Amino acid sequence: MKIIKLNAIDSTNTFLKDMVSKMSIDDFTVVVAKTQTKGRGQMNSEWVVDEGKNLTFSVFCRFEALCVEDHKYLNFCVSLSVLEALNEIEVPNLAVKWPNDILSGNKKIVGILIENSLKGSNISSSVIGIGINVNQDIFSDKLPNASSIKMILKKETDLETLLEAVLLKLKKNIGLLEEKEYKLLEESYLKVLYKKNVPTMFKNNQNILFMGKIIGVSKNGNLQIELEDETVQEFGLKEVSFANL
Ligand code: BTN
Repeated sequence: MKIIKLNAIDSTNTFLKDMVSKMSIDDFTVVVAKTQTKGRGQMNSEWVVDEGKNLTFSVFCRFEALCVEDHKYLNFCVSLSVLEALNEIEVPNLAVKWPNDILSGNKKIVGILIENSLKGSNISSSVIGIGINVNQDIFSDKLPNASSIKMILKKETDLETLLEAVLLKLKKNIGLLEEKEYKLLEESYLKVLYKKNVPTMFKNNQNILFMGKIIGVSKNGNLQIELEDETVQEFGLKEVSFANL
């Protein structure tokens, strides 16, 4: 695997997407940057972290036969890879907040942004962007739910070693995806899904609060919540959030 190391860049996802559009690049090319000036998050948010203290990287993956419906499993793969690597360094109480924030307790320590290129109804390649809060000591008041591995473990973690561990897990799990081990990936993801089967207060996109419990992820990747009347409703990314997070 080829790893391109940069000091500063706007966004490793943007950089890698730009490279892919201009030249032919190897499968599993990785771009890692010490700092990003325009780090991008889900739903057009920003991803801002302290320089040199965290991991911000993107991985290019080419696929032979991954259909658009498989995006859900690609997302499972990426979330599980980071969670498994963090588990190995004993970060406690790990969970995946749907679709792919990694939490330790109630604190977010990882954000993931997967951007796909489509060819017809297939995903021909993806740029998988991962931001891990590793050795940052403090976060802005605007991010009350953010934390870092250092704040949780009370010690520094070596960035290179952690990057290597995540990449190894990603290779393994993408292998499972290519072998169409959907059931295994789904079972593993549901085991670590935050608040699965726990009665929880949610907020919909009209700010209306409601109680329900997460029961799974639908075929098209939406969150399935069982309401108090036992009916099941599906929610897309912008349609629901946790009332307390
Ligand atoms: C989120 O939680 O909103 C997703 C954040 C994703 C951040 C990573 S950092 C590396 C890569 N480059 C980016 O610009 N974004 C992703």
